[in-house]
Amino acid sequence: MTDRVVTFHSVRKLYGSFQALSGLSFSINKGELYGLIGPNGAGKTTAIRVLTGLNRHSSGDVTVLGHQPQDPKLRPLLGYMPQETALYQDLSVEENLRFFGKLYDIPAVELNRRVNDLLAFVDLEKWRSHVITELSGGMRHRASLAAALIPKPRLLVLDEPTVGVDPELRANFWQRFSEMQRDGTTILITTHYMDEAMRCDRVGLINHGQLVIEGAPAQLIHDANVSNLEEVFLKLAKREAPQ
Ligand SMILES: Nc1ncnc2c1ncn2[C@@H]1O[C@H](COP(=O)(O)OP(=O)(O)OP(=O)(O)O)[C@@H](O)[C@H]1O
Ligand SMILES: [Mg+2]
Repeated sequence: MTDRVVTFHSVRKLYGSFQALSGLSFSINKGELYGLIGPNGAGKTTAIRVLTGLNRHSSGDVTVLGHQPQDPKLRPLLGYMPQETALYQDLSVEENLRFFGKLYDIPAVELNRRVNDLLAFVDLEKWRSHVITELSGGMRHRASLAAALIPKPRLLVLDEPTVGVDPELRANFWQRFSEMQRDGTTILITTHYMDEAMRCDRVGLINHGQLVIEGAPAQLIHDANVSNLEEVFLKLAKREAPQ
């Protein structure tokens, strides 16, 4: 049995005639914290939407925890924080968390415990009864992260989770990700912050829907003969489309 939690093999995703993924191949090992980086429009969110079964890929192979992305068996195993907050705007923070808990069939006592723990973690206890439209952008992001953590997933997928989040909470988020990883959770994260990418076990740089380079951050810096990950990015993530 393989230790691969996610595999993408030559995956293409077409939107009309536009190829958002053009033969993307990468894999994530069990327990790994894997970072997907790349310029705006590179295909990171598209890859995540394919992985989570929200969009069907046009060709190639994708497996997630041994299942096809659309397999309902995958649902309870996956936590997903989308780039655009996907919460019910007219429900309160707490109602949103409870709603997600019910989707995952979490027993009431355990759900109470998780809701309280997560509200404390994202520092929204005082806001628990407020509807989402009353929250600031960063607070919505925090509520969205709490919702993604409700199922205690085997694979946690986070699409730019720390955008608009203040530095103290950003540090808390990363501490939590490390703790979850220690507990055996595999994590896929996308980020434009190179200090965050440095904290990943491995990073995949994608551009124009393809993997450009992949490896441990320190190795990538060494191989590119530069002094930091930002320089690797600037060197390799060219804007022009390949010929
Ligand atoms: N529903 C859609 N219909 C048509 N084109 C789309 C659609 N969704 C994404 N695209 C295109 O696919 C490409 C990849 O977009 P994607 O959102 O995956 O990029 P990204 O790497 O997540 O970028 P960002 O860093 O800005 O979040 C872009 O050129 C985008 O315009
Ligand atoms: Mg994106």
